[in-house]
Amino acid sequence: MSNDDIGVNPSTEPSFSALVDMALSRRTVLGGIAAAALVRQVDFSTPARAAGMAGPSLTFAEAPHSIGESHQVAPGYDASVLIRWGDKVLADAPAFDPLGQSAAAQARQFGYNNDFIGYCPLPLGSGASDHGLLVVNHEYTDSWLMFPGLTEKDGATKVTREQAQIELAAHGLSVIEIRRLNGHWRVVEDSAYARRITLDTAMAVSGPAAGHGRLKTKDDPSGRLVLGTLNNCAGGLTPWGTILTAEENFHQYFAGVPQGPEAAAHKRLGLVGKPEYSWGQYFDRFDVTREPNEPNRFGWLVEVDPYDPKAQPVKRTALGRFKHEAANVVVNANGRVSVYSGDDERFEYLYRFVSRDRVDLLNRANNRRLLDDGILYAAKFHADGRLIWLPLIFGNGPLNPGNGFHSQADVVIEARRAADLMGATPMDRPEDVETNPVTGKVYMMCTNNTNRKAEQTDAANPRANNVHGHVIEMVPPMVDGQPDHTALDYTWSVFLLAGPKGQGRYHPETSESGWMSAPDNLAFDPAGRLWISTDQGSAQATNNIPDGMYAMETEGPFRALSKFFYACPRGAEMCGPMFTPDGKTLFVAVQHPGENKGSTFDAPSTRFPDFQPGMPPRPSVVAITKKDGGVIGS
Ligand code: FEO
Ligand code: CA
Ligand code: CA
Repeated sequence: MSNDDIGVNPSTEPSFSALVDMALSRRTVLGGIAAAALVRQVDFSTPARAAGMAGPSLTFAEAPHSIGESHQVAPGYDASVLIRWGDKVLADAPAFDPLGQSAAAQARQFGYNNDFIGYCPLPLGSGASDHGLLVVNHEYTDSWLMFPGLTEKDGATKVTREQAQIELAAHGLSVIEIRRLNGHWRVVEDSAYARRITLDTAMAVSGPAAGHGRLKTKDDPSGRLVLGTLNNCAGGLTPWGTILTAEENFHQYFAGVPQGPEAAAHKRLGLVGKPEYSWGQYFDRFDVTREPNEPNRFGWLVEVDPYDPKAQPVKRTALGRFKHEAANVVVNANGRVSVYSGDDERFEYLYRFVSRDRVDLLNRANNRRLLDDGILYAAKFHADGRLIWLPLIFGNGPLNPGNGFHSQADVVIEARRAADLMGATPMDRPEDVETNPVTGKVYMMCTNNTNRKAEQTDAANPRANNVHGHVIEMVPPMVDGQPDHTALDYTWSVFLLAGPKGQGRYHPETSESGWMSAPDNLAFDPAGRLWISTDQGSAQATNNIPDGMYAMETEGPFRALSKFFYACPRGAEMCGPMFTPDGKTLFVAVQHPGENKGSTFDAPSTRFPDFQPGMPPRPSVVAITKKDGGVIGS
């Protein structure tokens, strides 16, 4: 391939296109994920569907666009709860007992607030759509919905040590094995793959910050071994069969007003001694006055191998430290991988990492260090429609000792400040960013930003007081018919403006049910149609629409014709959309049902999904299938 232009010895390495051919003919050697990713990579000449067809390819009748105590799906579909907070993950887990919780039980049960869902086919390399592993993030805990006698204000003050230990065990990830039999998905009990990852799970640190003094603590003088992962929001699959899980709002767990050399860096991440949790009262590492470097060990992307329950997760510091919403990997024609990740906070940035080396799709073990060497970039959106990637490299421009950067470790630890100095564009909460597998274009959800003033608007963030958010489409240049996600220069445009009709901008035929607010995460189905999940937060009540799933085409005459597919129950946000490779199952995560104002364990606004007296609302993973067994959406 003519654009095989990276610095490897051509006499010893087969070309990447030859590797693709080998990979496709040896699917059992590879992860099915990798093979699927490559099949999608190799032909961008055919749009998702021919322009000029009679009607939209999404033919479902819309779900009720109204808030209820339960969830609602489009007619003709089944939405079944697969697993809930407290359900058994490990074989010896006790049954969930809301009034008899313990940390030991929770560490074996499904954690709280499911977010990212990764579907990994079984066996590895099969591409199966009826048997696989689900890797699920547990982003955070709501003490007042988990335990009796608390209100939303009490999270940092009245939560006891015992309850805090349960919260620690309710964070992290779960890995479960699932199987579809007679049309129904079930969790496989006693699976050898079943795993809970909690704040007690040891994780390695790799990349430029590994072993750096700023990561060393009393408990870990090596700076290379961290206990646990925090606030795992969304994530992404890698083509070699691992997943990346994104550490987002880690600042909220740390008590103590930062002082000393880390104070400014902590402040840049919002860590100012106003925790949402009580943990700092009980555990020294969550008090920055006792352990000032502990926060530097969070805010990373963590790689987990779900196929090996003993594999130690690895924090990949080359991809930068900020409030990672998600991470999505795409393979370039030259074999290098690009990883997109948004920093979900108002006025923060979009980042991209490009690996130095090529992915090895024949031997997954050879990708163990792929995400440790490469270049991290931040995005600058120009008004003329160009997008420029700014390299965050120690020694480049202002990233020098005069500005407090003494190595690449400092650059990745303070990626936000590095991006500030390089002139990246402050966005309206850049969240999930993902590549359309059919067209190669990249889509970014900008959730909202009510703090943006009129004088702060720009082409990429065009609305002051942006209550409803927007979606940006980014187009990498095509090189030899392949999108080049390593290029320094893309083009971009606004794909849609969210909000009710009159305020939003969609396809003109979008119905009264098709408008959304706060686009947050996304998934593409195998046909390249865009499925957006929303998170309105407390604005759910004022907007008076549920959070849920919206589907649309991205090309052709029905571009941005948004249709409402699935409604969350009251107080919940929609997370984790993930299709099986055949597009016949859509997994979604109903996060924090009943988390609206005034709702508590004792008097919840919904008891989804059990609706039993005394049973609190339970975050749940839901499997959506079509009653006739067909492809979701069409
Ligand atoms: Fe965890 Fe940015 O949502
Ligand atoms: Ca989000
Ligand atoms: Ca979210």
